[in-house]
Amino acid sequence: GRVRHYNFNVVMKKANRLCSTKSIVTVNGHSPGPTLYAREGDTVLVRVVNHVKYNVSIHWHGIRQLRTGWADGPAYITQCPIQPGQNYVYNFTITGQRGTLFWHAHILWLRATVHGAIVILPKLGVPYPFPKPDVEQVVILGEWWKSDTEAVINQALKSGLAPNVSDAHTINGHPGPISGCQTQAGFHLSVENGKSYMLRIINAALNEELFFKIAGHKLTVVEVDAVYVKPFTIDTIVIAPGQTTNAIVTATKNSGKFMMAASPFMDSPIAVDNRTAVATLHYTGTLSTSPTTLTVTPPPNATATANNFIDSLRSLNSKNFPAKVPLKVDHSLYFTVGLGINPCPTCKAGNGSRVVAGINNVTFVMPTTALLQAHYFNQKGVFTTDFPGNPPVSFNYTGAPPKNLGTTSGTKLYKLKYNSTVQLVLQDTSIIAPENHPIHLHGFNFFAVGKGLGNYNPKVDPKKFNLVDPVERNTIGVPSGGWVAIRFRADNPGVWFMHCHLEIHTTWGLKMAFLVENGKGPNESLLPPPKDLPKC
Ligand code: C2O
Repeated sequence: GRVRHYNFNVVMKKANRLCSTKSIVTVNGHSPGPTLYAREGDTVLVRVVNHVKYNVSIHWHGIRQLRTGWADGPAYITQCPIQPGQNYVYNFTITGQRGTLFWHAHILWLRATVHGAIVILPKLGVPYPFPKPDVEQVVILGEWWKSDTEAVINQALKSGLAPNVSDAHTINGHPGPISGCQTQAGFHLSVENGKSYMLRIINAALNEELFFKIAGHKLTVVEVDAVYVKPFTIDTIVIAPGQTTNAIVTATKNSGKFMMAASPFMDSPIAVDNRTAVATLHYTGTLSTSPTTLTVTPPPNATATANNFIDSLRSLNSKNFPAKVPLKVDHSLYFTVGLGINPCPTCKAGNGSRVVAGINNVTFVMPTTALLQAHYFNQKGVFTTDFPGNPPVSFNYTGAPPKNLGTTSGTKLYKLKYNSTVQLVLQDTSIIAPENHPIHLHGFNFFAVGKGLGNYNPKVDPKKFNLVDPVERNTIGVPSGGWVAIRFRADNPGVWFMHCHLEIHTTWGLKMAFLVENGKGPNESLLPPPKDLPKC
C-alpha cells in the first residue's frame, strides 16, 4: 500500500446556519471537514495540530487499528488529549477493510462540528462486488445547535437532566430551507437520467438516530460500516450515530427536483426534536426555481419501518468476502445498558436526583490519564479489571421500572484473552423511558447474531441465532426494551472503548472498555507507543 499524508489543522471558524452565525471548532476551516481517502492496505498519517483553546483528540471510527491502539483516538482511553498548541501524528494501516467510515473528535462534544468522511477504496484493480456506480457522493447527516455545544453539555451535566435538543438536523452541514429561515439553500446533488449514484451516508449526529429517504427514488443498500452486505432495495433507511451506509440510487427521471430528507427515529420523549433536514436531487436541465417533489419521512416512532431496514441486513458472505462468525464462545457476557437515577443533592433542577447511565449498573468514570498508557507502562491505580460479566442484580424487563435503578461508579475494564471469542448480549433496560442505544465497539467489527424484544432468554434465543450470514458492523442499535447478541474475536491487543454513540448517554456514563491482553506470537502484541504521543 501507499503512504497517505493529511494535515488536520483544528481551528475556529465562523459559520452561518439557521440564519445566525457562531464560532465553531473545525478541521481546516470546514464542517464537515475534509474527506480522508485511502485504499485498503494503505498507511495513513494524519498530523493533527491543535490551534484552539480546547483539548482535542480524533477517532477514526471503525478503523480496526490492529495493534495500533495509540492511533485510535478516544481521549483518556487510548491517548491523552492533544493540548492547545500541541500536535500529534495518527499513524495507522488500513488492514482488511474497504468502504465508508468517518472520523470525529472524541472528547467532550466537539464531534458536533469536528467530523468528516473516511472513504476506503478497494485495493487497486479489485472491483466492488456490485456494478460500479457512475458517481460516488458522501452524505453526512448531523445536528446543529444555535447555542454553543459546550453550553449544552454543561447544562446537561450540571442539572442532571436531558440537554437542550439541537435546533436542526443537517445534510452535508446544512439544514436546508426550513421554516423561520427560508433563505439558506441546502445541499443538492446534480443527477442525470440513467446514471447511478452511490451515496456514502454517515450519521455524525450527536444524539439522534435518523431516517433517510429520497422522494420518488429507491435505495439499494450494498454496504454498512465498511462491510459489504447482500444488496437489497428499500424506500427508507435508518442509521444510528456512528453507523455508515452505502446505498445506490439510480436516476430514473428526465427532469425535476426531488427532496432528500433526514428525520429522527425513536426520539426520547424527554428530548423531542422534529426538525427534518432537507436536500435535493436535482436533474440537470431542471430550473432551480422548479418546485421540489416532497417526501415525508416516517414519524419518530415508526419502529416497523426501522426494523424492516435492520432485518434486511445480511453479510455478503461470498467466496471473496466470507463471514467469519465465531462458532464457539470463550466469554459469554450479558450487559444491561440504559439510564438510571442516582441521588444528587446538588442537582437543583432534578429535585435532588440526576439521570445517570451505565452498563451492568456501572457508571464509567473517565480517568485523568490514558488507560492504554497505564496498561502498557503498568501504572497502578488507574483502572480495575473487575467489570461485571453479568448485572449485579439479575435483570427482568417488565416494561415498568425495575428496582435496580441506581449505579455505582468506577473505571472498570473487562479483560479478554488474546484471540478468545466473545458473545455479548446487550439488554436494553428502558427504565426511564423508551431508549435506543447505538452501541459502538472500538477496535473490532462484530457480527449481529440475534435480536429480540423483552428479556433475552439464554435457553431459547441462541437456538435462533444466525451464525451463517449475520451483518458485520461496528455500531449496533439495541432496541428499546429489547436485546441484541453480538459475537467477535478478540484478536486486537489493547484497550478498547465500548459506549453508546448518543453523546448524552456517553456523557452520563454509558461506556466501558475491554482490555485485550497480548498474545504470545511475534505479531500478537500491541506495538510500542509513538514518540509524540501526547502527555496528560
Ligand atoms: Cu465514533 Cu468512541 O466513537
